[in-house]
Amino acid sequence: MNNTSDVKIYEYDAVIIGSGLAGLAAAKELTEAGKRTAVITKLHPLRSHSGAAQGGINAALGKEDSTELHEFDTVKGSDYLADQDCVELMCSKAPETIRWAERMGCVFSRDEEGDIAIRPFGGQSKPRACYAKDRTGLALLQAVYEQAFRAGVEIFDEWYAADLIYKDGKVSGVAAYDIRNSQPAIFNAKVTMFATGGHGRAYRFNSNAHANTGDSLSIVARHGLPLEDMEFVQFHPSGLGGSGVLISEAARGEGGRLFNSEGERFMTKYAPNAMELASRDVVSRAIMEEVRQGKGVGKDGQSVNIDLTHLDPEIILTRLPELRELAIAFQGQDMLKEPIHISATAHYSMGGIPTNINCQVRKTPTEMVEGFYAAGECSCVSVHGANRLGANSVLEALFFGRHAGENMVKALDEGIELRPASVEDAQNMLDEMHTLKTSNGNESVPKLREELQIGMTADAGVFRSKESLERQIKLIDDLLVRFKNIRIDDKSNTFNTDLQEAIELGHMLEFSKFIVVGGLNREESRGGHFREDFPTRDDEKFLKHTYAYMDKKFNISLEWGDVVLGKFEPKERTY
Ligand code: FUM
Repeated sequence: MNNTSDVKIYEYDAVIIGSGLAGLAAAKELTEAGKRTAVITKLHPLRSHSGAAQGGINAALGKEDSTELHEFDTVKGSDYLADQDCVELMCSKAPETIRWAERMGCVFSRDEEGDIAIRPFGGQSKPRACYAKDRTGLALLQAVYEQAFRAGVEIFDEWYAADLIYKDGKVSGVAAYDIRNSQPAIFNAKVTMFATGGHGRAYRFNSNAHANTGDSLSIVARHGLPLEDMEFVQFHPSGLGGSGVLISEAARGEGGRLFNSEGERFMTKYAPNAMELASRDVVSRAIMEEVRQGKGVGKDGQSVNIDLTHLDPEIILTRLPELRELAIAFQGQDMLKEPIHISATAHYSMGGIPTNINCQVRKTPTEMVEGFYAAGECSCVSVHGANRLGANSVLEALFFGRHAGENMVKALDEGIELRPASVEDAQNMLDEMHTLKTSNGNESVPKLREELQIGMTADAGVFRSKESLERQIKLIDDLLVRFKNIRIDDKSNTFNTDLQEAIELGHMLEFSKFIVVGGLNREESRGGHFREDFPTRDDEKFLKHTYAYMDKKFNISLEWGDVVLGKFEPKERTY
């Protein structure tokens, strides 16, 4: 099907792509304000990756804590690349965001006094991760989904949004198709929001859901719009060895200790004060360094041990039950009885679709796109800079999702008009579907994807260098050529997951190139980006955001943008 006569047109005030915490929080605000809102999602909302967030959501609720300390930790953790106005807004609204979630029905764990329980997380001066056992994201997602549903949001689940309708600096919706039967449609809207989550699937070892293929990043980039700070990818210190499945930082927050094959508690060498609760970039590099020195554990020597056996079993059973089950299911290791094997796993993207503090998408570092918003992991409002603190992502998604919703309501109330779309706006999507389905080459999608993922983990991972990044650019360029020569076996219109995976691979190849080119040009080490050939931070040259643009031949060009500084002067980070 590649002719536009079959295309349906839907009209809404607002259309939101993605149904995790950011998308649903925005949708709830819009619908409650009386705006007709559609949410388009390739999964059922309750399968969104927000539901996999385990350990907590930060808010300065502790008696000795303050929002200013939360801000300081966030800026320090970001290696001073975060925009401090956005950090201040998010941290100051964090306590209210928790109460908002609680009023919606999210059941948080409690302490002995009946207050919301808080646990320590990495890089925090004071414990501030509020949690619901080790299923915090799921508890929040269920509450927000129920309330968005109750408000009357129209959800198009198992729909794939494949293109943005962008003309003359304005966005007027998306082209999408129904995964059930390939029915194409235009969702024409006055305001459009992307909240599609992360892109960790570009890496061989990752903690991300199957769906986290970063589609919206290259959808935006294909229209000549920039992506920001894409070189900053977070590697979480504790993915299960071999699979990368997340073992929450809560395991270290509750007292878990890291040991190498020689029984040495090696964090004493890397972060003698914070130890296992240094920021994630620091702990991940420490783990990988031990592995490189031949002090790893496990069959392939690629992991280290996390030991929780000294803890009261009640702590594990009541606060970390899911982690225990995951380690038993995937590795046959019971954390009540023995240490378990973990290693650094690709977890989170600090970069993404650039937005201003009101979540409006940027066309250039200083100009905005009319009618277009983004929030959550796919976006870069830049509260995480070069490295995100644990338990700030759920906060960012929930707070900025709601904030985006409020700002879209405002734009609608101020009279933003519907810029009419037509069936012709589905042509790019239809051509892409047709080309991929009829391509009769000899390359397979899983094979190309695997080559990409292995290369990203090896050459654009925890440690990087000019040589490794250039090797990875060459690989991606080669894969982009080979991608033109794929063949998918399923030619049908019904639940064609072969087709969907081919479209997703196209996106993965394209946004991965942003990560690698950004990493090559940033000749310094900052947060999650560590260059072995430039091992120190260089504020003089690189206290700047990267804005990267892609042309039709997948060449990437860069420009630099200012970081919003504030009360916290850049300093050397010590832990
Ligand atoms: O470790 C964790 O529970 C992950 C939380 C986060 O990435 O914020």
